Amino acid sequence: MKKIARNNIFKIKPYIPGKPIEELKRELGLKEAIKLASNENAFSPSRKAIRAAQKAIRTANRYPDGGCFYLKKALARNLGVKPENVFVGNGSDEIIVLSLIAFLKKRDEVIIAKPTFLIYEIASKIHGAKIKFAPLKNFRYDVKAIAGLITDRTKLIFIANPDNPTGTYITTDEVDFLLRRTPRKTILFFDEAYFEFAKDIKNYPRTMKFLKDRNIIITRSFSKIYSLAGLRVGYGIAKKGIIDCLNRAREPFNVNSVAQAAARAALGDKKHVEKTLKFVKKGKSFLCGEFDSLGIKYVPSVTNFLLINVGKESKKIYRELLKKGVVVREMSAWKLDNFIRVTIGTMSENRKFIRALKESLQ
Ligand SMILES: Cc1ncc(COP(=O)(O)O)c(C=O)c1O
Repeated sequence: MKKIARNNIFKIKPYIPGKPIEELKRELGLKEAIKLASNENAFSPSRKAIRAAQKAIRTANRYPDGGCFYLKKALARNLGVKPENVFVGNGSDEIIVLSLIAFLKKRDEVIIAKPTFLIYEIASKIHGAKIKFAPLKNFRYDVKAIAGLITDRTKLIFIANPDNPTGTYITTDEVDFLLRRTPRKTILFFDEAYFEFAKDIKNYPRTMKFLKDRNIIITRSFSKIYSLAGLRVGYGIAKKGIIDCLNRAREPFNVNSVAQAAARAALGDKKHVEKTLKFVKKGKSFLCGEFDSLGIKYVPSVTNFLLINVGKESKKIYRELLKKGVVVREMSAWKLDNFIRVTIGTMSENRKFIRALKESLQ
């Protein structure tokens, strides 16, 4: 294949998907298994979203609304912007890819923290960007290091805020610093997939206020707080000109009709959001308390997951946990060989994880 495929393709380590949970159970002979590996919401979608999805599937013989008219309108109302400032994607992942398709020119550079959300690097490699990596400092984005990498050719700077896999965030002051150092023609891409978990923190930046004056793209997701990861819906917010470019680059029917209906209904269900926030807070404080008493170090997180240092090769701990029916993410792909990332689950899942972890560490 090397002769006929684009060279870039072989520079990419393929994303390795986890096995379906049912298959794992069958393979390992387990009655029960829990998945705490992908930062998903532990709760099913809200009843309103399920009902809307059920209704929408009745007309799935038709193509979806290619303009996401109603969802965009609802999002715009919620965000206090115009629908022309909103882009809906097949997950917010799609918007990362489209921003490269739409804006990256030959010899352009992108800046990506290391380690951070892997898709920035994968998508940038596919599209032939020159990547400059800014190492994290104490598990946080280092805005000075990022600023130091900016050149005349910097097209995009990807900022996961809050970040995955660390769960940390950059502050209002740090965003101000970065904006001062970033040329106006460079696009700052604020990936706010975990926005709702962090938005009430005092110095968590309000990036929306830069929308008019600067080239920024803000993305958020229905996969986390709204429990719709399986339907793939995310959205981007930017000035009209940027949205226009993203629209030119996308497929005509990029968001399916069931996803559009469910997302719109989910937006209107504040109770689901509150319930999720409450349980994540409770679950996180339970897990952190257990880690403290076990002497396990972890990175303080403002999200629905925790990055923990298990003090030995995490691949082994991962396998031990798997045998006990607990799926977490081992972090060797991020070169964090002693770390695992665990998503906050329901309280019974959190307890099961701690029991399994204690046994695995012995
Ligand atoms: C930082 C970050 N951005 C984006 C995404 C992807 O979100 P979506 O499901 O909306 O594509 C994730 C998913 O885990 C993430 O952690």
